[in-house]
Amino acid sequence: TTIQWFPGHMTRARRQIQEKLKLIDIAIELLDARVPLSSRNPMIDDIMMNKPRLVLLNKADLADPGITRDWIAYFGKLGIEALPIDAVTGEGVRSIPEKAKHALRDKIEAQLRKGMNPRAVRALIVGIPNVGKSTLINRLAGKHIAATGDKPGVTKGQQWIKAGGDLELLDTPGILWPKFEDEVVGYRLAAIGSISDQILHVEDVAFHALRFISEAYPANLKERYELTDVPGAGAEADEIVGVMEAIGRKRGCLQSGGSVNLEKASMVVLRDLRGGKLGRISLERPDGRSKEEALTDG
Ligand code: G4P
Repeated sequence: TTIQWFPGHMTRARRQIQEKLKLIDIAIELLDARVPLSSRNPMIDDIMMNKPRLVLLNKADLADPGITRDWIAYFGKLGIEALPIDAVTGEGVRSIPEKAKHALRDKIEAQLRKGMNPRAVRALIVGIPNVGKSTLINRLAGKHIAATGDKPGVTKGQQWIKAGGDLELLDTPGILWPKFEDEVVGYRLAAIGSISDQILHVEDVAFHALRFISEAYPANLKERYELTDVPGAGAEADEIVGVMEAIGRKRGCLQSGGSVNLEKASMVVLRDLRGGKLGRISLERPDGRSKEEALTDG
């Protein structure tokens, strides 16, 4: 599903999330492990109004594990606990209740000191479209979808889901919009399939992705497409197009006259990238190197 994010929609999305924030103890912010910055809402700190937060790096199965570790450290330095997960297989999902309680430990300890019996931690999952919110909610829900309507303040139709380990979740996630101001962000989100292929040209998206991959993961490209030579850092545009043509020839993406159909070759590359066929690839690194450079000139 593609949502057209006009200013009015952003305002409404923000208001909907802020209504839900009143009901919860902690916001669980879902990011894509391959592009944690580009998949992060630009106004998240503002929207969350100091609510305690836990960051989940989802689709970690598709991301470079070493880079994911760097991201965990990056968020740690910001004082935010982050956890890599795979919402499809459930890898890492078991630790979510414990991590949420850890993020709220001061509050929970204060309640215990006052002799109060801490109730279940209530959480809301937030994130941009396609980041895996529904998949994760279904994973956490298992067969324990709670009865609705018996808790004050819950909008009709909304349910608390018992997610195990004293964690309760609102069953509808908060949907946030991605960053738009930056062209690079658009190309990265399109590369992972988070933005519809109708919005940016597939050839441009694949070109940017291929330039990054040939620099950061040349061995993966060589292996997948049996290429002998892949240009590294600072390659010229012509060289990247040359790689695309080589891939197209390997995959039989030819048009009449025998030249390579670059659009078809682009779709091959993007399909392989999105499906993990190129190996585990992260398009953003916290060292800043890739932030501006990786998918632009540099
Ligand atoms: P949303 O609610 O945030 O919009 O996302 P949703 O759960 O619908 O997930 C979007 C797609 O991402 C789904 O693929 C889902 O299977 C996939 N996905 C979610 N979490 C993970 C994960 O941890 N690892 C991997 N590899 N995939 C994950 P889909 O239904 O096939 O949709 P699409 O890929 O055809 O768009």
